[in-house]
This record gives sequence, C-alpha cells and structure tokens, in this order.
Amino acid sequence: MRIVIAADHGGFRLKGTIAKALQAAGHEVTDLGASSAEPIDYPDYAHQVARAVADRTYDRGILVCGTGVGMAMAANRHAGVRAVNCSDTFTARFSRSHNDANVLTLGERVVGPGLAQDIVDLWLATPASLDERHVKRVAKIDG
Ligand code: RB5
Repeated sequence: MRIVIAADHGGFRLKGTIAKALQAAGHEVTDLGASSAEPIDYPDYAHQVARAVADRTYDRGILVCGTGVGMAMAANRHAGVRAVNCSDTFTARFSRSHNDANVLTLGERVVGPGLAQDIVDLWLATPASLDERHVKRVAKIDG
C-alpha cells in the first residue's frame, strides 16, 4: 500500500517507529517529517498529508502529534479526507469498515508504541464495508 506519514515534534518518535515497521512489512512509505523535537506547527504537516490522500497520490495517510487531535482537525478540513483519531483497536477497526477512514491520527503522548502499532496494523488491514448502508453514509460525509 502507498502510505504517506508525517508528525510534529510531539509525535516524531512514534512516527519514525511506525514508518520503519511499515517499510519492513513491504509498504511503500513516504515520510514527510518532522524528525526532531524542534517545535513546529502540526497543521502544516496535516495539510500536506491530507492533500496527498485527497488527490489519491497515496492510498492512506498517517499523522502523529502529541494527542492526534490537532492533526485530525486539520486533515478533516479537506474534502475527500476522512481522518480518525484512534487510541483503541475497536475504533481503528470500525473507522475502516463503517467509515472508510483514509487518514489515521495517533497521539504519541496517549498510546504506547505497542498499542499504536496494533492500531496501525488493524487499521491498514481492515477493508471498508461494501454494505449499501455504509457506502451511502460515507458518500454523504462530504455533503
Ligand atoms: C504540541 O505541543 C501539541 O499541541 C501537538 O502535538 C498536538 O497534540 C496537537 O493537537
């Protein structure tokens, strides 16, 4: 899968760990940064990833900040982007099957690396439901 990933200073460590694991698993991963604790603005990275998913350059996007919240808010400003902030595997699974989420946001200060990787793996592996009721509802998200 073609995956674009980015983080701010609050999420760059977890982002690096996840990017390495996804590459090792055979995914095509593009890491847009950041790569240090130097403070930067999370919306700048969220918008880059959101644009690249909205225009279908990538299949999925992953964004990491301290909480995952700001990244999700900014990414969801883009038409065609369905970003979900996940701290548990149940939400990861159903954000894919019922909502066809195409951007995952994580909080490095919220979830540990083991849970984060489980969330990522499940989120990438779960297909969107083809059930008519879910397809219809997802189509209504952009208004
Ligand atoms: C940075 O301190 C923090 O605000 C940011 O990483 C993120 O949690 C925002 O939603």
